[in-house]
Amino acid sequence: MERSLIIIKPDAVERGLTGTILSRLEGLGLKLVALKMLHLDKMLARQHYAVHKEKPFFDDLVNYITSAPVVTAVFEGERAVEVSREAMGPTDPSRAAAGTIRGDFGLDIQRNSIHGSDSAETAEREIKLFFSQDEIFSRRREK
Ligand code: RTP
Ligand code: MG
Repeated sequence: MERSLIIIKPDAVERGLTGTILSRLEGLGLKLVALKMLHLDKMLARQHYAVHKEKPFFDDLVNYITSAPVVTAVFEGERAVEVSREAMGPTDPSRAAAGTIRGDFGLDIQRNSIHGSDSAETAEREIKLFFSQDEIFSRRREK
């Protein structure tokens, strides 16, 4: 069983696509185990995207993701990272096929509607930034 951190980005939240995007992921058999709406501050955004801190687009990325509220979620399931990345499509919506979330809803490379963890290890690190243990209703969790 694997988990992925999903962020529905400002462009998608603003356009009322939150339910549609969550529904697509649930429709693939992934289980929603945590959900939260929040307005990221710069520090959290920089931590979340720390791997990109040397990239030329880093400041723009941090400014964008902190520009308006987002919805964060944890999905759990077999190959949750790969399944959600496939459903998202590639980073640039102009290269994303119809039927993928970015292909259908993404506006440009920055306003690409959704973030999904890129590996199981990244997911565990990212999930800890956004959710405490008692906010995750995981099937794995012992009662
Ligand atoms: P994400 O982390 O948001 O799920 O996106 P990703 O894995 O598909 O792409 P990644 O390489 O991790 O890049 C993170 C976000 O940075 C923005 N970006 N801008 N201007 C550019 O060339 C550029 N490249 C990446 C995108 O918004 C991307 O989602
Ligand atoms: Mg990424």
